[in-house]
Amino acid sequence: MKANCWHGKTHLEVEEKPDPTIVEPTDAIVRVTLTAICGSDLHLYDGVIPTMESGDILGHEFMGEIVETGGGVKRHKKGDRVVVAFPISCGTCYFCTKTLFSLCERSNPNAEMAAKLWGHSPAGLFGYSHLLGGYAGGQAEYVRVPFADVGAFPVPESVTDEQALFLSDIFPTGYMAAENCNIQKDETVAVFGCGPVGQFAIKSAYMLGAERVIAIDRVPERLAMARTQGGAETIDTDDVDDINAALAEKTSGRGPDAVIDAVGMEAHADGFEGVYDRVKQIAKLESDRPAVLRDAIMSVRNGGTVSVPGVYGGLVDKFPAGAFVNRNLTLKSGQTHVQRYMPLLLEKIVAGEIDPSFVITHRIKLADAPAAYETFRDKKDGCIKVVMTP
Ligand SMILES: NC(=O)c1ccc[n+]([C@@H]2O[C@H](COP(=O)([O-])OP(=O)(O)OC[C@H]3O[C@@H](n4cnc5c(N)ncnc54)[C@H](O)[C@@H]3O)[C@@H](O)[C@H]2O)c1
Ligand SMILES: [Zn+2]
Ligand SMILES: [Zn+2]
Repeated sequence: MKANCWHGKTHLEVEEKPDPTIVEPTDAIVRVTLTAICGSDLHLYDGVIPTMESGDILGHEFMGEIVETGGGVKRHKKGDRVVVAFPISCGTCYFCTKTLFSLCERSNPNAEMAAKLWGHSPAGLFGYSHLLGGYAGGQAEYVRVPFADVGAFPVPESVTDEQALFLSDIFPTGYMAAENCNIQKDETVAVFGCGPVGQFAIKSAYMLGAERVIAIDRVPERLAMARTQGGAETIDTDDVDDINAALAEKTSGRGPDAVIDAVGMEAHADGFEGVYDRVKQIAKLESDRPAVLRDAIMSVRNGGTVSVPGVYGGLVDKFPAGAFVNRNLTLKSGQTHVQRYMPLLLEKIVAGEIDPSFVITHRIKLADAPAAYETFRDKKDGCIKVVMTP
């Protein structure tokens, strides 16, 4: 089969790989009909997530048709159309039974490696380094889906591939990010980053009752989408000297009730802070560039919540711990418990409450994936979200 493979920093190739086979009775094989590139994939592309190996198949946002099932798969049969959650979760362990699916303690065969870096291991993920299991991803013609009864969800006929695909990750991710803000009536939520995750965080914040959403970025077409699709007010970081002051000004001097960091470890920053983080990252003195995490903490109102769907990989510098403690802030984060949100969000799509395909700007063939990663990362050609057909 053809698959999009990682061969080092910014070096991807679509190449021939062996077809996946059933390994465990709870596995299914899915023929991929639609897959996407995620902002998280850009961290792999840029080489800032450790333990990638040459030849690893990328991709964790995918859907398709079941072509084979192991003897233990009960919920699915050959021919079923499914969308697959990006965390691999057993459904029966301590964490899965608490619906903390992205923390499944049975799906990461390299848990020891992850525990060394992070204290404990989270779940394995599709196509996301050996630290997180070394599983082959879904930017391919076929993919092996472990624990298929838990991770693959049937898609009703009335829902198109483009409408269903983002249930695999970015819609639930935006939704969980907003839910983590514990939004009360009349509250204002600020969202840093108007990439795909930011766009779904904006929509979800309104769904969960926010009075106002203020979206922040510096890419004009992404800000425009936040306004027209999301109904957010926007701030272009290129237009303000101090984003925290700009947010305070819009919120009676107090700051937003909650702030979502939908940017993560590769935030852009100007001036001294930007240079500082870049130099330290290159010198391997810090692994991530946390400009937005700092801004989120500094700008949220006293007693507010900072919700972090943005991915961080390792250690950050100049974390404002003083602000965090003395201003009674709450920090919530995590890889999304996608399986928890799938049924609810699918219902919203079926009911016509949201059509997640609004975010798609580029439709390409899998064979053109390597060039599309560059276009997406560099925000060329108005690119906001790329979907690919094998
Ligand atoms: N927690 C999860 O389960 C989960 C799932 C999917 C994605 N993610 C993470 O969410 C983040 C966003 O993903 P995406 O697909 O939207 O990626 P993306 O790269 O398309 O979007 C990031 C956006 O942030 C903007 N940005 C960068 N620096 C900024 C700054 N200082 N201030 C304001 N905006 C800034 C960029 O211009 C860009 O539009 C990534 O870190 C990704 O890894 C997490
Ligand atoms: Zn993703
Ligand atoms: Zn589990």
